[in-house]
Amino acid sequence: MRKKIAIASLFVTGATLLLAQGMMGSGMMHKVPMMGGMGCPMMQSSNQKVKPLQYTPITNWKDKTKIAQGKKLFLQNCAMCHGINAEGGMGPSLNGSGHVIHHSPKKLLTQINNGGGGMPAFGNKLNKQEQESIVIYLHSLWPKNVQKAYDKKFHIK
Ligand code: HEC
Repeated sequence: MRKKIAIASLFVTGATLLLAQGMMGSGMMHKVPMMGGMGCPMMQSSNQKVKPLQYTPITNWKDKTKIAQGKKLFLQNCAMCHGINAEGGMGPSLNGSGHVIHHSPKKLLTQINNGGGGMPAFGNKLNKQEQESIVIYLHSLWPKNVQKAYDKKFHIK
């Protein structure tokens, strides 16, 4: 009788551990970027190390495939805070009407990779090429005159 209970409780503990492990392994904690910004600052300062940004200048700013990929990734990862059309929400607007146009491509990539100021880091979730395609997409949303001034300032061809 005793033995049965012992075995049963072992089983329960094991199952709980397995369940917890499954949750961590599936990356569940990281699939919900909203939680970080929505009144849960603890999630932000996770001890997990973010892959450092391997910066090289973006070259293919007009690439239609990249723009399309960037749009998809933006809608999946960023729109909940920055708005469906990057018009802003709990995060600033990125559609060319705000501060974003004063920041170099490197600075924008750094913010995406490392996060900060209430924004989660994406360095472990999106690779370099994916992060770049989002910046290319955002740039494509800006009014032509804004794009032109930006390109001149940051030597984009
Ligand atoms: C949880 C909400 C949240 C999510 C998700 C989020 N951001 Fe942000 N983002 C913010 C906040 C808040 C700031 C302002 C940070 C600051 O002021 O320091 C910001 C700032 C930025 C900036 C700098 C803006 C500027 O004016 O220079 C960029 C670029 C940016 N985010 C891009 C992205 C991209 C791309 C994604 C998706 C991969 C993303 N963000 C996902 C909340 C978020």
